[in-house]
Amino acid sequence: MTDYTVEFVGTGEEITVSDKQTILKRCLEEGIAQEYSCRVGMCLACSAEIVEGEVAQPAARGLTEEEREDYALTCMARPLSDLKIDRGKYPPSIEDDTTSDASAEPAAADD
Ligand code: FES
Repeated sequence: MTDYTVEFVGTGEEITVSDKQTILKRCLEEGIAQEYSCRVGMCLACSAEIVEGEVAQPAARGLTEEEREDYALTCMARPLSDLKIDRGKYPPSIEDDTTSDASAEPAAADD
């Protein structure tokens, strides 16, 4: 097990996360206000932009392959190096979700 430092851009917060733990789990343990919802890599609520460093997140199904380079889903992501991340930054594909949600609205009733 290797411990890495995870620094949150703009807040001055810093935590230690092992390569066996998710960033979100450690945030919750340390009282850091990281947003989340599904905790299974689908909703993108826990997204953060990777400013520096690398993560392993094979189960981050809500991200495209390209987005996995620049964004971490903290509920799934485990550090592979020291990290700097910017919480609350969302990948471009979240816009697609908004579009598909709008098209999924039920049609008006006929009567
Ligand atoms: S909490 Fe939903 S993707 Fe992480």
